[in-house]
Amino acid sequence: MHVLALYNLKGGVGKTAASVNLAHLASQSGIPTLLWDLDPQGASSWYFGKESGLEGKTKGLIRGKSPLAEFIQPTPFENLDIIPANLDNHTIEHWLNKSEKPHKQLKRLIKPLHEDYSLLIFDCPPGYSLLAENILHAADIIACPIIPTYLSIRTYAQIVAHQAKSKIRDIKLYPFLSMVDRRKKLHRELVDDLPQMIKTLLPISIPYASAVEQMGENQLPVTAFAASSPAGMAYQALWKELSLKLGL
Ligand SMILES: Nc1ncnc2c1ncn2[C@@H]1O[C@H](COP(=O)(O)OP(=O)(O)OP(=O)(O)O)[C@@H](O)[C@H]1O
Ligand SMILES: [Mg+2]
Repeated sequence: MHVLALYNLKGGVGKTAASVNLAHLASQSGIPTLLWDLDPQGASSWYFGKESGLEGKTKGLIRGKSPLAEFIQPTPFENLDIIPANLDNHTIEHWLNKSEKPHKQLKRLIKPLHEDYSLLIFDCPPGYSLLAENILHAADIIACPIIPTYLSIRTYAQIVAHQAKSKIRDIKLYPFLSMVDRRKKLHRELVDDLPQMIKTLLPISIPYASAVEQMGENQLPVTAFAASSPAGMAYQALWKELSLKLGL
């Protein structure tokens, strides 16, 4: 099983939109895929018509009483299952802090999934936390959406610096441009300049598009209801790049 995380320290940059569309595209190409909504906001759960159920479930999972498989639910799409947002982050952080190997618990938890899925996608909450450290340890690839603004680029530099400081080896961090609005001069300039500044930047720009906003109205991935729109095509190009990096 390959593990892909959509992560950024920064909020509202398109992590969930990318997670949902990439999970849908992977499943469409016949890959048994599981999307795990690790954000208590439960946005990716909601896009697939699932309500998050935070009440009291986290304790069962971390105490080993409820296996992770119990949290898995089907989606309307073949080859695509979801773990809706079940984690109460306060309980999780507390548990991780008390664990013997606090950075590796998520990696341990997902081991039994290896038999049933070829791809696991984490939709991550924004911010640094012990849970975020666990995600960085558990993922083979971290895809990081960045909006072309100086503040976003600064945040990306902070992630790179943090990763270099922490003992996370072999992590592959791939940023890609998100919510690109070509009507904005700064966006156009940074789209041109960023490949020189960030060598690992994927050659993909997800455009700022109303089709992505309509995901909320439709409760569906763009790639399901507007596959040939510019945003739908951009997510397909992103999936192509990432599936190659993952070796899928
Ligand atoms: N390419 C896009 N074009 C237009 N709107 C977008 C695009 N991508 C995301 N959005 C909108 O921006 C908002 C934030 O997107 P999203 O939830 O994917 O970001 P996020 O990084 O997961 O946020 P959070 O950090 O809160 O989890 C949503 O309302 C979404 O519909
Ligand atoms: Mg999100």
